[in-house]
Amino acid sequence: MSECNHLFLYPCLYKKLLSYFRYNLRAISFILSALSHIHSTKEFRANQRTPCVTFLCFLWRFITFMSISYTEMAKDDPTKKKKALFTIGHKKNILLTKGSLNSLSKPVLRHSTSTKNNLTMKINGIPHRTIWPNPKNPREICIIDQRLLPHKVSIETLVTKEQATKAIKDMYVRGAGLIGATAGFGMYLASISAPDNLAEFDAYMAGYARILNNSRPTARNLKWAIDRIIRAMAGAENSDDKRRIAFATASEIADEDAEFCRRIGEHGLGLIQKISEKKKGQPVNILTHCNAGWLAFVDYGSATAPIYAARNAGIPVHVWVDETRPWNQGARLTAWELQQEGIANTLICDNTGGHLMQHGLVDMIIVGSDRTTHTGDVANKIGTYLKAVAAKDNNIPFYVALPSSTIDWELDKGHDIPIEQREEEEITSVMGLNDEGQITTVQLCAPGTRAANYGFDVTPARLVTGLITERGVVAAEKEKIHGLFAQGQTAL
Ligand code: MRU
Repeated sequence: MSECNHLFLYPCLYKKLLSYFRYNLRAISFILSALSHIHSTKEFRANQRTPCVTFLCFLWRFITFMSISYTEMAKDDPTKKKKALFTIGHKKNILLTKGSLNSLSKPVLRHSTSTKNNLTMKINGIPHRTIWPNPKNPREICIIDQRLLPHKVSIETLVTKEQATKAIKDMYVRGAGLIGATAGFGMYLASISAPDNLAEFDAYMAGYARILNNSRPTARNLKWAIDRIIRAMAGAENSDDKRRIAFATASEIADEDAEFCRRIGEHGLGLIQKISEKKKGQPVNILTHCNAGWLAFVDYGSATAPIYAARNAGIPVHVWVDETRPWNQGARLTAWELQQEGIANTLICDNTGGHLMQHGLVDMIIVGSDRTTHTGDVANKIGTYLKAVAAKDNNIPFYVALPSSTIDWELDKGHDIPIEQREEEEITSVMGLNDEGQITTVQLCAPGTRAANYGFDVTPARLVTGLITERGVVAAEKEKIHGLFAQGQTAL
């Protein structure tokens, strides 16, 4: 309406209505059929209903139908999501700001999308992925800045390889699958600025691969994605072909990550189902650590995929969410993500799990993994090991959900997995909303307090009940893992 002055209000409104209907022939056919239905009903003819009541019924059905069809439309066509958000009664408390990595306060944009149609995870009812090329300009890679969640949903665009590295290193994006997908697109962005001469192109890409690989040392998906892009580009005969291949492979990595997580959900569902049957339909209490939800991947998540699948199957579930100090992935991301999906959840301090297990309040544990050796040792967010020990002591099944892209086929011992150490400030300060509703970081400790910030720990295979993968649930044992996957391969 802002572009209409009052003289042109009616033509403008008419134009808007026309374009609205153009999108939805079903709406027109519905109106016609509804009108004819009303006029043909005996009640209407016999005047048992007043015209006013009939009109209100019709209006109600019309509005309901339009809401549903528009929401469906938004799923299918990303360009219409903006309209859906503006037009239908979705809450507008989600204002997505768009910026580049260096400037956070650019104009407001109220939607995000992926190039794929099968989106599932939602923010305020709108399906999202965690990373997607801008459909209008694929040289721009869009991400959600996870540092600001859940207080602000801010979309950033990556246009250079340096921005991709920064996004991974500074945790704008994080989590196994999403780090891999971002690395894939980072390699694509690097290929854009690489020289055309083939030898120079390869050297440039190898140099960037080294830098990118060091940005999050524990994350296996990082190296896996980088190697995959380099392998894919190897056969191409000119730099433009290499660039095209880099983009196609990065997109493939992202799509595959979503699909693998979806399959993890299918395989994990059976485990929850069995517990639910034993509990005769009482809610299944699942404890999770950190965020191995859709925000850590491209869609669905690994640890959360079976939970979403259980919800979809009508199984009542409740999730205990470890807050996961120091970065609070559980408190900020997992709790929010589950809320958005309508999954019952309760936030707990990292030290609470053992107590809950002793009192029969945890039926199973599902966590994710940043790197799992082919022998079954699991590196995951710091604190996971303690949960596994407590689970063993209390006879509670401890599952790790991971796509095979997270498996390290070279390392035999979890002990040899490099453990990332991060800045002390992540522990000595804490971020949240202040009274004015601004995101603020405050100092937690006395000045000069020293902190050791180990990002991950390793849970030995003997404490793991099973690995939930895209190919099925498997014991955390070398022979079983190799039996399920041809070595080093992650093909569907
Ligand atoms: O430091 P992060 O947030 O990148 O750590 C990764 C994690 O979120 C967890 O360790 C997660 O449980 C495994 S990754 C799906």
